[in-house]
Amino acid sequence: MIKNKSFSQQPKHIAIIMDGNGRWAQKRGLQRLEGHKAGIKALERTIDALQKFNIRAATFFAFSTENWKRSKQEIDGLFDLVRLHCKQNEQSYISKDIRVTSIGDLSKFPPDLVQSLERLKEKTKNNDGLIVNLALNYGGQDDVVRAVNKLLQSGKTKITKRDLVQNLYTNFLPDPDLIIRTSGEKRLSNFLMFQSAYSELYFTDTLWPDFDEKQLLQALNDFAGRQRRYGGIK
Ligand code: FPP
Repeated sequence: MIKNKSFSQQPKHIAIIMDGNGRWAQKRGLQRLEGHKAGIKALERTIDALQKFNIRAATFFAFSTENWKRSKQEIDGLFDLVRLHCKQNEQSYISKDIRVTSIGDLSKFPPDLVQSLERLKEKTKNNDGLIVNLALNYGGQDDVVRAVNKLLQSGKTKITKRDLVQNLYTNFLPDPDLIIRTSGEKRLSNFLMFQSAYSELYFTDTLWPDFDEKQLLQALNDFAGRQRRYGGIK
């Protein structure tokens, strides 16, 4: 049964692996890019639903360090979508009090895309509502290696967990309480590897372009029933 009101426990930070855009398009005889376009619509729907359920932060896996293996056509198409999304949604993010942030190495992206994203981040930086964190050219293993190198460069010869946490891309966020992956795949695919140590995992067969408020509610209800022990005993 889907409950709609209050949850016994609610995630502060949800991370989402938006998988299945290609299969969604293929099932309809469409180009993969049409799946990504529908994926953006699902992203926008999900953001509205996250706000409705008072979630503090959400990280969306939009482009992984491994996605460079895709065709140039698909990569360029994805860049166009991200670019357009940043340009078209500035006012909407501002009016909804959403703060947009990003994690990942943006240096490999087209400069004008980076500019649009940075502008959106700057324009929304003082907003106090939902944090929409976009993982772009992000890899969990890269994140850890980068943090260690930063610490070595600062002269450290011994590092603590705290040092590491403070130097990860996600240092402004709590670890994700819940990670959702759509499309039936049951793996983390190098997403937030360090930060997911005690995340609850939720997998659904729904393809990302079909994800909506009802699906999010199902995930939240499932999460509400989880017993989080962090290695201890309840
Ligand atoms: C995985 O589906 C999806 C992606 C690699 C890209 C997801 C990106 C978006 C939805 C757009 C993000 C845009 C912004 C503004 C953040 P897949 O292509 O691997 O699907 P498949 O496994 O069915 O082939």
